[in-house]
Amino acid sequence: MLSKPGINSILSRFSLDSQVAVVTGGAQGLGYAMAEALCSAGLKGIAVLDINESSGAFAAQALHLNYGTEASFFKADVTDEPSLKAVFAAVDAKFGGIDILVCSAGVVENYSAEEYPYMRFQRVVNINLSGSFLCAQAVFPYMCNRGSGSIIFIGSMSGSIVNWPQCQIAYNASKAGVIHMMKSFAVEWAKYNIRCNSISPGYMHTSLIEFADKDLIRKWLEATPMKRMGEPEELQGVVLWLASKASSYTTGADIAIDGGYTSL
Ligand SMILES: NC(=O)c1ccc[n+]([C@@H]2O[C@H](COP(=O)([O-])OP(=O)(O)OC[C@H]3O[C@@H](n4cnc5c(N)ncnc54)[C@H](O)[C@@H]3O)[C@@H](O)[C@H]2O)c1
Repeated sequence: MLSKPGINSILSRFSLDSQVAVVTGGAQGLGYAMAEALCSAGLKGIAVLDINESSGAFAAQALHLNYGTEASFFKADVTDEPSLKAVFAAVDAKFGGIDILVCSAGVVENYSAEEYPYMRFQRVVNINLSGSFLCAQAVFPYMCNRGSGSIIFIGSMSGSIVNWPQCQIAYNASKAGVIHMMKSFAVEWAKYNIRCNSISPGYMHTSLIEFADKDLIRKWLEATPMKRMGEPEELQGVVLWLASKASSYTTGADIAIDGGYTSL
């Protein structure tokens, strides 16, 4: 039963009081901005998982200093199944449970389809798609124990449209896979009260798109109804909504945050 209607009870459903979150790729960019949003809503603990040790440790420290949340960094490669399982066990042991998982770790590469080296193609799919799968599988026992959980995958508008003029077939395919995989998780795990959703950003200001020169960015903006790129903070509202009870009947949803790009 939801609490009685009224603005205060609605706002209280956004609270993450006493909850524990894991954010992969949380060292920087969108992952860090989403970690900030979760901490600001009263999390008890947050685990930043990233392959980058120095910026990951710095991020955890900054989250603790700025929000008072107990924050720890765990070095993790999302493609390394055995060590990933050990990391999730260590997070559970440290914080006494896991309620929220945000899978933000990801990479992009630009090769034309005919020249894409297979090893490079596999790397992108392994990190973006298989890495998200492995993290969700690794968190499952802890959410199952709790009897609830919210998993938020980071897809991309590239999962539903083909970006142009840059070539990125592996990225586009991996993100389409993330969105459809999210729906499969949502259907299979509804019986465990584990909700699974994805956020699909458009072009956002992070180091992921630093390969783009002015000319490419101009082309992107021409194709974006809002005529600007997004800022990492512009994912904070949606991640909080999906992580919290405010979205209690939402599972299997992909939310586009793209300045209208995919509406064209
Ligand atoms: N920036 C954009 O325009 C944009 C648009 C749509 C979707 N996305 C998605 O958002 C997510 C975050 O991207 P971002 O823009 O913050 O990029 P970013 O490069 O700033 O951050 C990505 C993080 O993932 C980490 N990472 C990479 N490989 C890893 C691995 N194997 N194991 C663990 N961590 C790993 C990196 O160290 C980094 O901290 C990605 O999944 C990306 O595909 C980004």
